[in-house]
Order: sequence, then structure tokens, then C-alpha cells
Amino acid sequence: MTNSLGAPGRILVLGGGSDIGQAIAARFVEDGGVQQVVLAGRRPGDMAERFDARRPQDDAAGTAQVATVDYDATQPGAAAKAIAAASADGDVDLIVVAAGVLGTDEHNRLAHRATELLGINLVAAVEAVMEAIDRFEAQGHGRLVVLSSVAGLRVRGGLATYGASKAGLDAFCRAMQQRLAGAGVDLLIVRPGFVHSAMTDGLPPAPFATDPASVAADVAAAVAAGRAVVWSPPVLRWVFAILRNLPEPIWRRVSGR
Ligand SMILES: NC(=O)c1ccc[n+]([C@@H]2O[C@H](COP(=O)([O-])OP(=O)(O)OC[C@H]3O[C@@H](n4cnc5c(N)ncnc54)[C@H](OP(=O)(O)O)[C@@H]3O)[C@@H](O)[C@H]2O)c1
Repeated sequence: MTNSLGAPGRILVLGGGSDIGQAIAARFVEDGGVQQVVLAGRRPGDMAERFDARRPQDDAAGTAQVATVDYDATQPGAAAKAIAAASADGDVDLIVVAAGVLGTDEHNRLAHRATELLGINLVAAVEAVMEAIDRFEAQGHGRLVVLSSVAGLRVRGGLATYGASKAGLDAFCRAMQQRLAGAGVDLLIVRPGFVHSAMTDGLPPAPFATDPASVAADVAAAVAAGRAVVWSPPVLRWVFAILRNLPEPIWRRVSGR
């Protein structure tokens, strides 16, 4: 249950091995009030071990427990099952939708690879958002944190399928926020730029590259302020205000495609 200061008591991370998802959960643990973090993913032992290494060793009460549940985004009904499993001992107060894949050049050229990526980043993420909202509406409260990306704000050729998946997810979440107005359920859209994580390991960093802990700090501040969208780092909001409006020939040149 969310405490009197608004801190979530139980957090579920869908894509529980995600560097960014884990950093967000660890940040709330550090801020205090979290009783349980439930990591939902395909590799329970690895997820829990990595979270233990990441979490603050001196968190407020030192009592946040870590549990794992199965979650494979490609399986039908996966989000509903993970949310139900995480809720077995009481309400989940905050759900982070973090599972995602960046893909390779193949995902932009081969139809079956493109649909595979869209199935994880868009179809399963939309399913997760809807299942989380259903749960939160039934329990009367809850916060969703959804990992979108600046890559969806203006999609470039080299990231066509990934960018399209995030554009779709971002647009869907924007529309859901209209439906949720006044319902006691909050949805925060997170738009990070390049983040040093397992997903980007070995890739040349983009301008304004950041790290999972910094994204988590931006998310925590946005949740506290009750904001609908957070850019990470915040300067990207202004950078993309320009990039989104560039004429196509200039965009192609600056985006490298
Ligand atoms: N890193 C960036 O630059 C960046 C920027 C903007 C937005 N984002 C978004 O932020 C989110 C988290 O990314 P990250 O940087 O933390 O990357 P990450 O560490 O690679 O995390 C991605 C997670 O997604 C999980 N996943 C992939 N396919 C799955 C499936 N079928 N079922 C369940 N889980 C699955 C992976 O699990 P396994 O370990 O089992 O593969 C992994 O734990 C993603 O949605 C990403 O698109 C990232």
C-alpha cells in the first residue's frame, strides 16, 4: 500500500532484468517506504542477483524484500499472470513496464523479425499497460511508469522498427492518460535518450547519453511532481522540439540515414 508520503509499498517491474527498470525500483527503495520489489522476467535467479547488487545497501529501513515471478512478453496473457502473481500478498502500487529489445538491422529488413520486435515492444507493452490499468482501477489506486523512448518521437531509418514500436506505445499511453484523468490511476511516460545499459552495450553513445540511475532520479522526481511525461535527461525535450520539426532532408542528414 502507498504510504502517507505517497511512496509505493510494492513495486512490480515487468522486464525485471532491465537495467533501467531495476534502477527505478532501486531508487524508490533508496527513498524509503518500499516493502517489496517484484521482478517479473525470464531469468529469475539472474534478475534477483543483479538487483541485490544494485539496490542501496543501507536503504531506509533495509527491509524491502525482493521476489521474482515469471514473465515472458511473447506469451499470451503474460502480463495478467505476472500482475496477479505479484498481487497475491496485497496491492501492487507501482508497475514499471520495462521489457524491450532494440533489435538489429534484420528487424528493419525482415518482416518476421519486425513483427517479433513489435510483439514485445508494442503489443506486449500495450497489453501490460491495459492489464495494469484494470488492476489499478479495481483496487482504486496505482501508478504506471512506461518506458517509451525519444527514438519514437522522430523515427530514423536505422531504427525503423524499434522507433515505430515506441511511437505506437507512446501515442497509446498519451491517449490512456486522457481516459485516466480523475480516476486515481497515474501513468508516467518516460522518454529517455541513449542510456548506457545492457541494451546499448557496445554501441557508440549518442549526444546527451545518460545512465540508468540518472533516468531513475528523473522518474522519481516526475512521480513526486505528478507529471505525465518525463524526458531523460530533461534537455532532450527541447532538443526534440527542434528535431521533430526539421525538414525531412535535414533530418536524414542529422540522423545519419
Ligand atoms: N537503453 C536505452 O538507451 C533506452 C533508451 C530509451 C528507452 N529504453 C527502453 O527502456 C526499457 C528498458 O531498457 P534497458 O536499457 O533497461 O535495457 P535492458 O537492460 O536490455 O532491459 C531490457 C529487458 O527486457 C527484457 N525482455 C526482452 N524481451 C523480453 C520478453 N520477451 N519477455 C520478458 N522480458 C523481455 C530483457 O530480459 P532478458 O534479460 O531476459 O533478455 C531485459 O531484462 C526498454 O523498453 C527500452 O526500449 C532504453
